[in-house]
Amino acid sequence: MDGIDNAVAIVTGASTGIGRAAASRFVEEGARVVVADVNVEDGEETVDELEAMGGEATFVETDVSERADVQAMVETAVDTYGRLDFAFNNAGIEGASGPASEQPLDNWERVIDVNLKGVFLGLRAEIPAILESGGGAIVNTSSIAGVVGFPELSPYVASKHGVVGLTRAAALEYSGEGVRVNVICPGVIDTPMVERSSEADGNVEQAIAATPMGRLGEPEEIGDAAVWLCSADSSFVTGETMVIDGGYVSQ
Ligand code: NAI
Repeated sequence: MDGIDNAVAIVTGASTGIGRAAASRFVEEGARVVVADVNVEDGEETVDELEAMGGEATFVETDVSERADVQAMVETAVDTYGRLDFAFNNAGIEGASGPASEQPLDNWERVIDVNLKGVFLGLRAEIPAILESGGGAIVNTSSIAGVVGFPELSPYVASKHGVVGLTRAAALEYSGEGVRVNVICPGVIDTPMVERSSEADGNVEQAIAATPMGRLGEPEEIGDAAVWLCSADSSFVTGETMVIDGGYVSQ
């Protein structure tokens, strides 16, 4: 893919799952990567993997819901590699399930803080640094729960719909300044998040059955799209809500 070699990318939630797969794809295309996550042990393992591939990577412990952490994450990228070109704001949590009237308020607050405020704080810190580097691209992770509703998951669904709106607003604000902002909405992807959900309610078989392609997506299938949306190959794409779900929301 054009325009990734030697660039600098931040990937949040890169300790496991989709973020780790995206970080690998960035390195394969020649980018240097800042791995940002609350999970230190797996984050350092991600960096080891990226370095074993011959890449350059740095871990920075980051809670995306904390403004100071997010600012420090961007400063780490600029201090370590001299610039910031791309960010994949991908960290997220599923939260607890249950009907809205029974959802504990602290579950609502945590899910919104991580999934929605986390992306907002990311944009605020990343955009000035990317502008300073002469432009670039940001990709956010929403979900199919960002374009259709799912029962028992109101905080998650609300947070992910919010990420789609935030992406569109930011895309409009910076389209004339060389910063493209897009959002990926994955369907059901084979990651630790889905393993946890499966253990909690055993619904993964149902999710596979409800997916027209009849399988889980692979994290690499989302990572590929994230890197493409940062690359020069997608130079006229901004504000796009890219659903990657084996056909789920087309039904
Ligand atoms: P995952 O649980 O493997 O990865 C999420 C990562 O985010 C973990 O490394 C976790 O430590 C990190 N994280 C959690 N809270 C954080 C915080 N406050 N600050 C920084 N990092 C934090 O799950 P997966 O599937 O890779 O999730 C990545 C994104 O994809 C999430 O935003 C999720 O909502 C979204 N998604 C996942 C789907 C799936 O089926 N796996 C479907 C649709 C969306």
